[in-house]
Amino acid sequence: MKRMMITGALGQIGSELTVKLRETYGKENVLATDIKMDDREISTDGPFQILDVMDGKTMLEVAKKFRADTILHLAALLSATAENNPVFAWNLNMGGLLNALETAKELGAQFFTPSSIGAFGPSTPKDGTPQDTIQRPTTMYGVNKVAGELLADYYFHRYGVDTRGLRFPGLISYQTPPGGGTTDYAVEIYYEAVKYGTYTSYIDKGTYLDMMYMPDALDSIIRLMEADGGKLKHRNAFNVTAMSVAPEEMASAIQKELPDFKMHYQVDPLRQQIAESWPNRLDATAAKEEWGFNPKFNLEAMTKDMIMKLKQKRI
Ligand code: SER
Repeated sequence: MKRMMITGALGQIGSELTVKLRETYGKENVLATDIKMDDREISTDGPFQILDVMDGKTMLEVAKKFRADTILHLAALLSATAENNPVFAWNLNMGGLLNALETAKELGAQFFTPSSIGAFGPSTPKDGTPQDTIQRPTTMYGVNKVAGELLADYYFHRYGVDTRGLRFPGLISYQTPPGGGTTDYAVEIYYEAVKYGTYTSYIDKGTYLDMMYMPDALDSIIRLMEADGGKLKHRNAFNVTAMSVAPEEMASAIQKELPDFKMHYQVDPLRQQIAESWPNRLDATAAKEEWGFNPKFNLEAMTKDMIMKLKQKRI
């Protein structure tokens, strides 16, 4: 990775990945693109270009002009939003991905795109979910993710594009909030705990999902992209996780830091159903063995850091 172009750079992952890549590889080498501009530093702190990922011709021109050797394609809709607008989700998630893969093919660029725990479904083994297993998701988001994994593998086998991906769990961060995901509760809970001392969870007690703190997610993207391709047996996409948590466990971890914190439940049927169709706990052995995946934050360490950072932010 020397010259990187990021799509969806103002989104949940992109806004932090852009900053990290600019710190690591030099500002001038990281082109952030998104469908809109906003007043955050990403738009002004280094190269920035407005780009609609549905416009493949412009995407190729922009990437070519920048002389990108790596495409990090992050622009996509998350699970709950996709479920509310499945046709648009298909068009954006698949159309954008196809354009990004074509761009990588034309430029001979390395390629990254995230998959998700959403790529699994009710018939997948829920505990210790293997790297290679049944993938029959029941959401449009999941259908997009499975098709995306296959498409990225296809570009590797058919055209030799160096495609790599991760099946991310719920990602938790004190910087950019996610939008329209099923795992968003695990971010909202910290914001509301610090701000109001109480949170009403739309995911029910006892619902286990994999989670990861954003610094570990960013580190895993860079590690995977820098790994020796010859050592990778898998490509699209690796199971990664740092913890498997239920809402009440997250509440208890917060209560250790903020003893007066109170948790309530008001289950949202759509997101609860999505959560129940996903695994409880992934097996990340392949990622550990093939490229040294090594998350640093467990629930306790993440909770301490989140609360400290949100207090500093004076949200
Ligand atoms: N965080 C995502 C979502 O909930 C999962 O990939 O949609």
